[in-house]
Amino acid sequence: MATAARTARIDRVLRPVHRWVWRDGGRRVRKLLAFADVETDGGRDILRAAEVTPDPLLRRLYLAHAIDELHHGVLFRERGAELLRARSEPASSLFNGNPLPGGHGLDDVSIEGEADTRLLAFLHVAEKAAAGRFAVYRELVADDPPTRAIFDEILHDEVFHMNYTYTQLARISPRTYRSQVWLARASRVWHRVLRLAAALGALMGAAFLTLLYFVLLPPFAWLARRAATREPGGWAPISARAEAPPTSQY
Ligand SMILES: [Fe+2]
Ligand SMILES: [Fe+2]
Repeated sequence: MATAARTARIDRVLRPVHRWVWRDGGRRVRKLLAFADVETDGGRDILRAAEVTPDPLLRRLYLAHAIDELHHGVLFRERGAELLRARSEPASSLFNGNPLPGGHGLDDVSIEGEADTRLLAFLHVAEKAAAGRFAVYRELVADDPPTRAIFDEILHDEVFHMNYTYTQLARISPRTYRSQVWLARASRVWHRVLRLAAALGALMGAAFLTLLYFVLLPPFAWLARRAATREPGGWAPISARAEAPPTSQY
C-alpha cells in the first residue's frame, strides 16, 4: 500500500495538471478514448498470457483479468463516444493534448517469452499505479456522474487486479517476489524517463530549429537585399568581348 500512497501523492502533486486536462470537454473525450485503447490492448495481451501460461490457476485469473480490461475498454469507449456526440462546439486544436501518461501503462506489457513472475510483477505495479490515478480522476469528474460511476466500477476491478497479482507472485516466487516488484518498478520508471527524454529531445530540436531560422536567416536575407540594390535595374549592355561570334554552342 505504501507505493499506492506514493503514486497517489505524485498524482496529488500533479492534481492541477489533471484538473486542467479533465476540465475541458474535448480533452476529457480524448482522454476517455485513449484509455479505451490502452485497456483494450492490455486486455488482449493478458488474454495471450492466459493462453501461454502453464499454471492452471493463473490461466483462470488472467482470463478473468482480460475480460475486466476488455470491459473497461468498452465502458471508456462508449462514454467517450457519448460525450463526443453531446458536444456541440468543435474541439479546440490548441493545447488539446494530454501532457500526462494514461491510466495503466499496460501498453508497455510484453507477453511473448515473459515468465509469469516478471509479468505478474509488471501487472502488479501497473495496476497499483492505475488504482491511484483512477482514484484521483474520479474526484475530478464529480460534475459528470456517469463518468464518475465508470471510474468507481473500474477502480474496484483495478484494486482486485493489484491484489491478485501480488498474491500470485508471492505464491509462485515466494523467495524473490519482493525483488521482482522492485525490478518491475525500476523498469517502469526507466521507461517513463526514456519517454520523457524523447519528448524533451523533440521539443528542444523544434526550439533549436526555430531559433536557427530566426537567427541565421535574417543576415542572409539582408545581404541578398543589399546585393539586389547594387544591381542596375532593367536591361544592361553586355561587354564588347561577349559580342564576338561564338565558337562553340556553349
Ligand atoms: Fe483496467
Ligand atoms: Fe486492471
